[in-house]
Amino acid sequence: MDHGFKRVAVLGMGTMGAGITQVIAQAGYDVTALEADRARADAGVARVRAFLDEGVSRGKVTPEERDTTLARLTMVTDPADLGEADLVIEAVFEDRDVKFALLQSVCEAIGPDAVIVTNTSALSVSDLATAVPATTGFAGLHFFNPAPLMKVIEVVRGLQTADTLVHRLIAFVESLGKTPVVVKDRPGFLVNHLLIPYLNDVIQEYDDELASAEDLDTAIRLGLGHKLGPLELLDLIGLDVHLHATESAYAATHDIRFAAPPLLRSMVAAGRLGSKSGSGFRTDEETAS
Ligand SMILES: NC(=O)c1ccc[n+]([C@@H]2O[C@H](COP(=O)([O-])OP(=O)(O)OC[C@H]3O[C@@H](n4cnc5c(N)ncnc54)[C@H](O)[C@@H]3O)[C@@H](O)[C@H]2O)c1
Repeated sequence: MDHGFKRVAVLGMGTMGAGITQVIAQAGYDVTALEADRARADAGVARVRAFLDEGVSRGKVTPEERDTTLARLTMVTDPADLGEADLVIEAVFEDRDVKFALLQSVCEAIGPDAVIVTNTSALSVSDLATAVPATTGFAGLHFFNPAPLMKVIEVVRGLQTADTLVHRLIAFVESLGKTPVVVKDRPGFLVNHLLIPYLNDVIQEYDDELASAEDLDTAIRLGLGHKLGPLELLDLIGLDVHLHATESAYAATHDIRFAAPPLLRSMVAAGRLGSKSGSGFRTDEETAS
């Protein structure tokens, strides 16, 4: 199917926006990326360049591919400059008010046939859709971190998302060399809906002294064939990020599986956030050894 998207805009060039921009530009699309100001825009481009440079040094990306990818990227700081985009991917702070305000101003710039998708992890796609006119196609397009490396993208069907848009987004995701899965709009969508309770269970098992942190990770890596053990994964994600994700899902569902384990709260309160703070479930052990 011809998805019909030619000019893509990405809102926000943080961790996810920079990765998403890179994926789309590397697939051959022209991308206009919006940041809040020039300094953040420069930081976003530097993030893309650093990731591509890393690819070059590992022999995964040619220097020519890096240069043509960067040449397809235009940075802007004013939503009014997004007028030519026919697909807008929103990847700004995970804050409903910030997203609402930005989506409303972007809608004043883009054409009536343009489509907006959100990369939110925890907010409701059906709720965010109410920020834009009912005639503007809206869905979730949930990339995983780091976007250039992760192969799957969740196409999230909000209550307002038309079937034709789902099909166009599936074709678009495939054109990026990624694998789409279509999921309902529910807290955590598919992957995080399963992952969050699993990680909460592991934290509780660790707190109950079922096994050492190292043995818990080893058992899951070798027993289930996962690349990372769950406690290593928590350190990588950031304990504060996981706490926010599980609290958001709990607030939306009151499902006990999303209730934050007490140890998680204590560790975040103590500043033990995982790799980024140098201290977490596994990070201390690595430092000590
Ligand atoms: N980090 C992850 O692992 C991950 C994974 C999947 C989805 N997400 C989702 O992706 C989105 C972005 O997350 P992130 O981790 O990249 O956040 P981030 O904090 O790294 O980046 C957000 C960026 O948005 C920019 N921004 C904020 N307001 C803006 C505005 N009005 N106009 C233009 N730019 C603006 C900020 O300057 C910042 O660079 C969130 O909705 C998050 O839930 C994150």
